Amino acid sequence: MIGRQFVRPMLRVLVLHGPNLNLLGNREESVYGTTTLAEIDASLSKLGSELEVELEIRQSNHEGELVTWIQEARGNYHGIIINPAAYTHTSIAVRDALSAVEIPAIEVHLSNIHRREEFRRHSYVSGVTLGQISGFGPMGYLLALRGLHEHLSSRGSKPVSGAGLSHGAETRSH
Ligand code: DQA
Repeated sequence: MIGRQFVRPMLRVLVLHGPNLNLLGNREESVYGTTTLAEIDASLSKLGSELEVELEIRQSNHEGELVTWIQEARGNYHGIIINPAAYTHTSIAVRDALSAVEIPAIEVHLSNIHRREEFRRHSYVSGVTLGQISGFGPMGYLLALRGLHEHLSSRGSKPVSGAGLSHGAETRSH
């Protein structure tokens, strides 16, 4: 019997924040609260370290830039967490990019978009994501990361370029 140690690739997740989320902290505080984007990113990074998930976090006010980043994620990331902000309700381009890359993605909204104005109730991206987390404030990002981690771990993920390797605790004999 020879013990064999399995090496599993470290999961890599791309986090994308859409337009106006750079203003969090002093943007419509009654809707979005007072937590800043930097604070959200710091809590995500902390959880990423605990779960051994490598995170890349970016924010853009430009639709095309978000589309390009999603396209570039193919082969580089195992999963995507995205708050497309206003582009949720307008962007077929962001939806098509998510659909094209076929990377499991979770849609996050700080506010509950279903309790707000009618125009926010429709999301173009929901149809191509694993699921949507809406209304939990900054905690929604952490729920998304935990959910994505569970999802990716349970189905086993192939290494992607630039991915670090982490050694699984598991040792099997046969
Ligand atoms: C948002 C909800 C969107 O309707 C809005 O345009 C945003 C933020 C949220 O996180 O609650 O900018 O995505």
